[in-house]
Amino acid sequence: MKISINANRCEPSPMRKFHPLAVQAQKAGKKIYHLNIGQPDLPTPKAYLEAVRNFDQQTLAYEASPGAPELIDAIRKYYADLGVYLAPRDVLVTTGGSEALLLTCLSILDPYTEVIIPEPYYPNYTTFVHAAGGRIRALHTSPEEGYRYAYRKRIESLITSNTRAILITNPGNPTGVVLDEQEMRMIADIAKKHDLFLICDEVYREFCYDDKFGVPTMARYDDLDDNLVIIDSVSKRFSACGARVGCVITKNKELQQALLKFCQSRLSVATIDQIGAAALYSVDKGFFKASKETYRQRRDLVVSRLRQIPGVLVEEPMGAFYVMARLPVDDADKFQRWLLESFDDNGDTVMFAPGAPFYETPGKGINEVRIAYVRSIEELSRAMDLLAKGIARYQTEVMEA
Ligand SMILES: Cc1ncc(COP(=O)(O)O)c(C=O)c1O
Repeated sequence: MKISINANRCEPSPMRKFHPLAVQAQKAGKKIYHLNIGQPDLPTPKAYLEAVRNFDQQTLAYEASPGAPELIDAIRKYYADLGVYLAPRDVLVTTGGSEALLLTCLSILDPYTEVIIPEPYYPNYTTFVHAAGGRIRALHTSPEEGYRYAYRKRIESLITSNTRAILITNPGNPTGVVLDEQEMRMIADIAKKHDLFLICDEVYREFCYDDKFGVPTMARYDDLDDNLVIIDSVSKRFSACGARVGCVITKNKELQQALLKFCQSRLSVATIDQIGAAALYSVDKGFFKASKETYRQRRDLVVSRLRQIPGVLVEEPMGAFYVMARLPVDDADKFQRWLLESFDDNGDTVMFAPGAPFYETPGKGINEVRIAYVRSIEELSRAMDLLAKGIARYQTEVMEA
C-alpha cells in the first residue's frame, strides 16, 4: 500500500507540533501560557446558541449543498452593508474558511501549477495547495521591512506560465500586515493584467486597528469579478471557531460551477451550525467594536513588552491578532523545546509558534516566532514576563554554554 505523493508533501501543523511535549510538561506540574494557537477567547455571541436551541425540526436533514438559504442571505446582507452586492449563487457555504481554501485550490490547480503567496504565511496553505498537486512560489518579505509584500516588481517577477493564482491574507496571519488602498489596487491590477485568480483570505477583516485602512476587502473592486475569490469565515469575526462555518465568494461563473461540484460531493455543511451562523450575522455592530478594542489593548501590551526585551525585532501589527517577532535566540524551535523541557519560573512556562514553518524558503524564520494575543491582559503580561526570562536564561545556559 502507498500514501499519495500529495499527502506526503503536506506537513503536520506547526501550531500543534509541541503538543506532546506540552502534555508532558503539564503532567510534570507546569502551567503553560499558550500563545501558539489563534483560538479567540472572547465569548461567542449568545445568538448562536439561542438559534441552535430553538431548532425544532424532527429530522436533522442535509442542508442544500451551496449552503442554507438563510445563511447565504445573512452573508449577502453583511456584504451589502460594506457596499458589495452579491447574488445568492456568488456565495458557497463551506466548513470553515479551511474548506473554502481547499475547494478553491482543488478547483483551480493542476499538478505543478503555482500559487504566489507572500511568506511568512498561514502554514495550512501548504496543505491546501499541495493536496491539489500545486506548488507555492514564495514572495519574500523580511522582518526589517515589517513583512510588507506589496511590491509590483517582486510580485511580477514570480509570475510564470504555470502561475494560476496569487493568494494573500489581509489582514495577515502571522504578520498582521494590512494592505493600504494603493497596495490593494496594485495587486488587483496585477491579477487582472496576468489573468490570474486573486484569492483573498479575509477571515480577519474585522480586526484592523488603524482606521485609515477602513474595513479591508478586495470585494470593493467590481472590475475584478472574474479574478476574485474571497475566503471568509465566522470563526474569528464572531469568536466562533467551533461553528466550522465559512464561505467562498466569487462571481466567476466557471469557478462557481467547479466549486459547486465539490460542494455537492460532500453533500452539505452541518445544518445546525448554519442556523447558528445565520443568527450570528444579526449581532449588533457594537460586538465588532468591542472585540477590536480588546485585541488592540492586547496588541499594545504585547508589542511594548517585546520591545523591552533586548535583541527582539518587532513591528507593530496593524491587524489580525498575531505578532511575528525575531528573537535573539539561535533557533526558535530549539528554544521552544527548551522552554517546555528545561525551563520554568515558579512553575510557569510559555508556548508560541516557531517561525520556520510559516516560510516556504528553507532556512528562513529560524529565529522568528508567531505570538497569538488571544489571552487576557493579565495572562499576556505574565507570558511576556516568561518569554523575557526564558530568553535571558536560554542565552546563558544554552547559547553561551
Ligand atoms: C489566515 C487563515 N485563514 C483561514 C483560517 C481557517 O479558519 P476556519 O477554518 O476556522 O474558518 C485560519 C485559521 O486560523 C487562518 O488563520
